[in-house]
Amino acid sequence: MTEPILSFRDVTYTYPGTEEPALSEINLEIMSGEYVGIVGLNGAGKTTLGLCVNGVVPAMLSGTRTGQVVVSGLDVDDYPVREMAKIVGMVFDNPEFQMSQITCAEEVALGLENAGVDVDTMTESVAQALELVGLKGFQERSPLGLSGGQQQRLAIAAVLAMKPQVLIMDEPTSNLDPIGKQEVFGLASTLNQDYGMTVIVIEHEVEVLADFADRILVMDKGKVVMNGTPEEIFGQVDALNVLGLRVPEATELANILEKKGIWKGPKAIRTADAVERVTEMMGGD
Ligand SMILES: Nc1ncnc2c1ncn2[C@@H]1O[C@H](COP(=O)(O)OP(=O)(O)OP(=O)(O)O)[C@@H](O)[C@H]1O
Ligand SMILES: [Mg+2]
Repeated sequence: MTEPILSFRDVTYTYPGTEEPALSEINLEIMSGEYVGIVGLNGAGKTTLGLCVNGVVPAMLSGTRTGQVVVSGLDVDDYPVREMAKIVGMVFDNPEFQMSQITCAEEVALGLENAGVDVDTMTESVAQALELVGLKGFQERSPLGLSGGQQQRLAIAAVLAMKPQVLIMDEPTSNLDPIGKQEVFGLASTLNQDYGMTVIVIEHEVEVLADFADRILVMDKGKVVMNGTPEEIFGQVDALNVLGLRVPEATELANILEKKGIWKGPKAIRTADAVERVTEMMGGD
């Protein structure tokens, strides 16, 4: 984790026809191999920040962007969005909405076709990507016949086929049941830990971020207002509450016990850690 794979330098962006900037003076570095979680209220600028990384902002949405976004050493302004798609994969909240093809193979091959990849390489890459997301042999299946979790994994396969260095997931499980959520976050964790992929997740469910993320960014009104480890960020319960944001349930519990003078030291962010600490306090083992 030594190279920054992503840098924002003084980035300010205003959508066309609006007055207030959606992003304001963002300075940020993300290291290769990091798993970064982004939280913030509706309208804080999380999606817009993600769209700056693959160049959709400003190339496709126009508006005015100042400052510089550098991804894997490339200035995003110098490359078309389809080139950036080979480096940055982006997955959104509604998997069904992302499905446009008759078969899973076609769905996964879409980006490769746009990139002009030959048929043999494409077949191979599609098979590899499907296997990686746990959909081995699904080539001829219809995307619409899959469960929500499978559909979202298929959407991830479609971006993985491009072998991106960065995977951005924008509330990837907001339409999924608990099993689907588990599938998607388990997969993202594997891609991060076993394949060194840089993962950026925009997510309201802070428990998931407490489990997986190396770093948390808190956004508010177009700015990154907090940036640190999950322990550092979620430990600041009052500051997050002022911003209207939740902390993990384990942290909420630790915070209440701290106010009663029972909990000492850093607050737990994961349920298992809270259980362990409470058990210790009660003299158990
Ligand atoms: N296409 C657009 N045109 C004009 N303004 C936009 C557009 N998309 C977003 N905005 C505005 O930009 C700001 C940031 O929006 P953005 O979608 O990035 O927030 P977000 O943090 O992703 O919110 P949410 O949690 O609701 O997804 C908001 O004020 C929003 O209204
Ligand atoms: Mg959003």
